[in-house]
Order: sequence, then structure tokens, then C-alpha cells
Amino acid sequence: MPDENLVASHYTHGSLLDAIASGLEELGRSPETAGVDDLAPVDEFHIGGRVATEHFLDQLAIGSGDHVLDVGCGLGGASRFSAERYGCRVTGIDLTREYVEAGTVLNSWVGLADRIHLEQADASAIPCPEAAFDRVYMLHVGMNIADKHALASELHRVLKPGGRLGIYDVMRVGDGDLEFPVPWAGSPEGSSLARPDEYKQALDEVGFRVTMERDRSGFAQQFFAELQARAETAAGPPPLGLHILMGETAPTKVGNMVENISRGRVAPVELIAEKPVQAS
Ligand SMILES: C[S@@+](CC[C@H](N)C(=O)[O-])C[C@H]1O[C@@H](n2cnc3c(N)ncnc32)[C@H](O)[C@@H]1O
Repeated sequence: MPDENLVASHYTHGSLLDAIASGLEELGRSPETAGVDDLAPVDEFHIGGRVATEHFLDQLAIGSGDHVLDVGCGLGGASRFSAERYGCRVTGIDLTREYVEAGTVLNSWVGLADRIHLEQADASAIPCPEAAFDRVYMLHVGMNIADKHALASELHRVLKPGGRLGIYDVMRVGDGDLEFPVPWAGSPEGSSLARPDEYKQALDEVGFRVTMERDRSGFAQQFFAELQARAETAAGPPPLGLHILMGETAPTKVGNMVENISRGRVAPVELIAEKPVQAS
């Protein structure tokens, strides 16, 4: 079961903000001129990047008056996208302090500091009152959290009755040992995958009603094929990309992920659930 320090140390880079600023500069941008879309190659740390975020979040029907919680927000890419696209207010929490600190600076670079608040916290003990949020979502976070029931219970507690939850995680869909490292863990000790049925059972037990489940393996394979095609024609990695977050082992992590998906062991899966207005 992944321990908190193991998870945070897996994701900690050390000089992330400098690396992002250098990448932006190479692209002819600066903190003064950067927009939300400029950061998308590096701040959307999940399969399919911005395209996946857009597809996933559009299903949550987020309104401009909503207060949204981004659980395991990382650098806050999806938080900034939500604030800009839907005009909502966003709170993001993440275990990795460096992501929260860098993400907070990125919010100010793109002029969204007044609408997004990021804070270091554990998704299994969210430091927010009951029914504080209209929408709650999580992108590629559950793979690091062993106790899905405790997680589901916290997500349910902080969501308003009638509110909607979205989960987009890598889940176990078949048997066989995984190849490591993968983007979310260097070894099996850091990984805590569960099957869609286990997620749904945990959600059901705490009072959610699951309304949609979608396996995004086909989309993922196409995404990785396009990534591969671009890499083959490029002289090197782009100035901004997820290789900055994944470090030297990025090619191995991505290669193992592609292998694990194509062998049917894991898949990126979307789940949408509702918190009924009256508990059933
Ligand atoms: C693969 S990254 C995804 C980040 C972000 N959601 C995105 O899509 O760009 C996984 C993130 O989950 C965070 N995380 C893992 N376990 C967590 C926990 N128990 N509570 C809060 N955040 C957690 C990590 O720190 C990391 O930032």
C-alpha cells in the first residue's frame, strides 16, 4: 500500500517551476504572456492530456456559479482549464507540496489566482466542510490510494446533495503482472490499482449512484500512437511536455504504460456518479 511519503517523493521534481519557465521561454512565451493553453503540454498529467480533460469534464455540466474540487490536482492544469472554460471557482488539493506551490504560481501567471486555490492535503482526509462543493473530480489519482472506500467516503462528504462526481483513473481490467516503472509509481509498492467494479462498489456503499462508465483504452492507444509518430519526426522532446514531470525514466514509464494497456491489463476508465438529493 503506497505510503504518503513514497507517493510525494515519486512526484517531486525539485526545480519544476524553473523547468517550466525555461520551456515557455523556448516557445517564445513568458510568465507575463503565457495562457492556460500554453501550459497544457506539461500540466495535464494523465492519458490524453487536455483532450481527455475536455471530454471528461464536459460530462459534469459545470456551471459558472459552481465551486469545484479537483482532487489530486497535480500542477492544477485541469483546475485552470475548468476556471477558464466554465467560469467556476476551483479548489485543488494534492499530496505533493511542490506541485501545489508551482501550480499556485502558474495560476497567477495566467491571471486566475482569484478563482483557484490550491492546497497541500490528502484526498483521504479532505480539509473542507461537508457539502462544500457542487462538483468533485479526480484525474489519475486513485492509482496511488489503497483505501478506495475511505476515498469514496470523503468525496461523498464534501459534495453537495444533487452534485456530480467524475473519476478518470487507470484501473485494473485484466490479469498479469504490470511492467514498472509506470508514470504513477516506480515499483509495485507505489501502486494501488483497483477494478472498475471495486470503484463502483465503494461509490455505491457510501451513497453515490453511478450513472456512466467508459473504458478509454481505444482513445489511449490512439493518443500514444500519435505521440510516438510525433517523437519519431522530432529532433528531441518538445520544450514543454510530460517528460519534464516524469524525468529521465519517462520513455520507459510511457513504454510500460502502453504495454500494460495493449495487453489488456489496465485501462483508463471514466466513471460519473451522482450524490442523490435524498439518501436512498
Ligand atoms: C498522475 S498525477 C495527476 C495529477 C493531475 N490530476 C493531472 O491530471 O494533471 C497524480 C497526482 O495525485 C496526487 N496524489 C496521489 N495520492 C494522493 C492523495 N492521497 N491525496 C492527494 N493527492 C494525491 C499526486 O501527488 C499527483 O499529483
